[in-house]
Amino acid sequence: MCGIVGYVGKRPARELLLAGLKKLEYRGYDSAGISLIADDHIDAVRAVGNLSALEAKLGANAAGSADGAGDGAVAVAERAATTGIGHTRWATHGRVSEENAHPHYDTDDQVHVVVNGIVENYMTLKRRLSDDGSDFTSETDAEVIAHLIASHYDGELAAAVRAAFAELEGHFAFVAMSVREPKTLVAARRECPLVVGRGEGEQFIASAVPAFLAQTRTVQQVENGEIVVLRPRGVEFQTVSGDPIARETEQVDWDEDTAEKGGYETFMLKEIHEQADTVAETIADRVARGTGVDLDEPGALDEALFVGVDRIVVVACGTSYHAGLIGRYAIEEWARLPVEMEIASEYRYRNPVVGEGDLVIGISQSGETADTLAAMRTARQRGAKVLAITNVMGSQITRDSDGVLFTRAGLEIGVAATKTFVCQVAAIYLLGLRLAELRGSLPPERIATLVGELGRLPHCIEETLASVGTPVAQIAEDHWRDEFFLYLGRHVGLPVALEGALKLKEISYIATDAYAAGEMKHGPIALLGDRTPVVCVATDSPVLEKMISNMQEVRARGAHVIAITTAASAHIADQVEVAIPVPAIDWMLQPIVAVVPLQLLAYEIAKRRGLNVDQPRNLAKTVTVE
Ligand code: G6P
Repeated sequence: MCGIVGYVGKRPARELLLAGLKKLEYRGYDSAGISLIADDHIDAVRAVGNLSALEAKLGANAAGSADGAGDGAVAVAERAATTGIGHTRWATHGRVSEENAHPHYDTDDQVHVVVNGIVENYMTLKRRLSDDGSDFTSETDAEVIAHLIASHYDGELAAAVRAAFAELEGHFAFVAMSVREPKTLVAARRECPLVVGRGEGEQFIASAVPAFLAQTRTVQQVENGEIVVLRPRGVEFQTVSGDPIARETEQVDWDEDTAEKGGYETFMLKEIHEQADTVAETIADRVARGTGVDLDEPGALDEALFVGVDRIVVVACGTSYHAGLIGRYAIEEWARLPVEMEIASEYRYRNPVVGEGDLVIGISQSGETADTLAAMRTARQRGAKVLAITNVMGSQITRDSDGVLFTRAGLEIGVAATKTFVCQVAAIYLLGLRLAELRGSLPPERIATLVGELGRLPHCIEETLASVGTPVAQIAEDHWRDEFFLYLGRHVGLPVALEGALKLKEISYIATDAYAAGEMKHGPIALLGDRTPVVCVATDSPVLEKMISNMQEVRARGAHVIAITTAASAHIADQVEVAIPVPAIDWMLQPIVAVVPLQLLAYEIAKRRGLNVDQPRNLAKTVTVE
């Protein structure tokens, strides 16, 4: 996720902004920039790469070097500006390039902005603003905000931001400044986080507390839908109609380490809690039409290929393989295309039958997994078209494929994948629906319903996170000493079981097995003892009754059934040891919601065993070797 920092006050802003951006480096980024105002000038300097590249650019230009960013950089570096904004970008819309880095500005270079998140209706706004004479210089959705604010500007930045905010759709936070009001920053929040840091005669705003923690510990939270006006002497919170809002200040007592984790005890827990936002970002503008899916974006696969494709083969490893398994059910059901699932390390050595007419999808959060890349290359050499699903722009997989569908999970630090997994699944759902649209395999009304359900996913994840804490903690308390867990599922519940079992194995080092529930009687049933915990994915689906029969078989052997349920399966609550209810959604989309308590269960058990969940033994986040 990108990082935002803003400062207005009495000290040199440039150093404070750079220091703030350094503190946000842990969030991951591929380019950075700052804008400063002084002496009736506003200038931006941006650089691809890490912050030292930005610093070098500022330094080189201050020293008069001719190879840099032009006059702006010279001015930025030399002026003693006390107002400014800074940004670290993790590319989602548009390549990693200087033009796409923030801050962005309007045609007259009057309004500069830094933005996190996604503007869903940017294409519509961009067309309108371009028709009215705006000159766009980047491929980003974010730039539209600068032009939009400038188009509304009539002498008061706060009013222009409110007017712009009312027109923007999506999931974002931004900070704006105008050369005509050099002592003012105006920020706005819709979903993406933003927090104010209060000082004496100076104010800070950032996407996360670490950006200003060294300067102040007095903070004010910015809530959803609010506009904030920061001036050296104080901060005003407003509604979108300009009405004042009172906001308490709070003291944060976090150390730097806790602050980086947003107050959570580990990165993994933070990332589990980011899943609603990241799924929202992944689907956001791609379902903006409301009734269909739009995957036409830079780097995407030519959609003409979708129509002629006869078969899909998915290659992946680990958690990404589980995401593919869910995708297989969705694509086969919706697009009526055969989908084969392949473990990449096996596929590459199998002399596979693959070629023209096949679409091979490589799924990899890192985009660097050696086996997945090799499997994709094999298929490509034999004439198949290759689509990559990845979270990292510029990763190797993006260069080894004919097109890319990006997940937008932001940097994931915990080795055990969580938010990247749910975003991969969301991306495959989008692909499945788009294939169905293009191939005419689902009626438009059904597609519209499913698009509506996709839009509900973030809310369902939030609800799950808010409600499952107590039952999950109780199960962890009862079972953390156990040495074996069995996971069972059917249909889309099976990959959820596989992923739940993998999470527990990875971070708690407990032996787990995950099975198709119907296969239990062909082996794993022999493992069941008196207290064996058996985690069953028993959410609503056409195979729920079958699943319930399997659970009864488990209970008959004295094992403990822990069931993930939805309203339709609520009646089984009294037949199992523990039921963990989650909100119901279309059964094909249920895995994204059902997996959340299983991630938390693995987490709570590992914690009780005193283990390092962020860096489990022997595992690596990116596996670039065979
Ligand atoms: C490693 C990671 C897993 C990941 C797998 C595949 O084992 O620890 O979390 O699922 O690699 O990685 P990829 O980057 O290709 O998704």
